[in-house]
Amino acid sequence: MSISDNVSRRDFLKSALSVSVFASLNGGVLLGRDTIGLRSENGTITGVVAIDLDQYPALNEVMGSVRLEFPNLPIFDQCTFGVGGDAFGRVMLSRVGPTEFSAVSARCTHNSCCIDDFNKDTERFRCQCHGSEFSISGDVMRGPASAPLTSYDTTFDGDRSVSIDIPGLPTAVMSESTSLTMLGQSTPNPVRDEARIEYTLHRGGQVNLAIFNLRGELIRSLVQSYQTPGVYAVRTDCSSLAAGIYVYRLSTSFGYSASRRMTVGAG
Ligand code: FES
Repeated sequence: MSISDNVSRRDFLKSALSVSVFASLNGGVLLGRDTIGLRSENGTITGVVAIDLDQYPALNEVMGSVRLEFPNLPIFDQCTFGVGGDAFGRVMLSRVGPTEFSAVSARCTHNSCCIDDFNKDTERFRCQCHGSEFSISGDVMRGPASAPLTSYDTTFDGDRSVSIDIPGLPTAVMSESTSLTMLGQSTPNPVRDEARIEYTLHRGGQVNLAIFNLRGELIRSLVQSYQTPGVYAVRTDCSSLAAGIYVYRLSTSFGYSASRRMTVGAG
């Protein structure tokens, strides 16, 4: 399956695949699930994981950290439980400042064992095998490891969402996803002026994208046309809409239908 790049700038698309997220401070208790996505940037597809901060209280404070598990997806930096043990894709996402986040691979650079969850008391990650320790940003604090943990770029939207770029995800996502047709969350949200709605089609068909009020009344039709497979972004001026919550819905002739909410703020 190929994804055409109908959007020239950085764009984010959620996929149907999921990633388990565990809170470090709760001993690995499953708190929720997020989605892995794809981002198209000038023709290059990058794997992205979007984290909704509302779901993960541990990330609301500086030095808070969560562990992301990719149970079925091989990523570049798999770690093992014990030298030569089963391999896992793990990424540690931490808040290192009011608006700064750090994402590092859990693979110890000494001999590929998995590091433990972040210890808030020692302010370090510790490797399970030979005791190497790393700072919250992945720097070596104690050997035998001599190289920092692999780090991934993070993007904070300034509000409630952090996304992580993870090399190696695109291939896995594209090969394992049964359907890449999906509707993304509008940005910004809430919106006062222009909203941007992103979606991707895994096959061609008649596409309808429209905004409704909560009574189900059509407010605005955004797309009504045949579209080929690919990535799309639609911009719409919301400044004339009354403040409140709206629903936008994507439906296709091949049976896909999804709705999301967007909030229009008072001007
Ligand atoms: S594998 Fe981490 S310290 Fe040896």
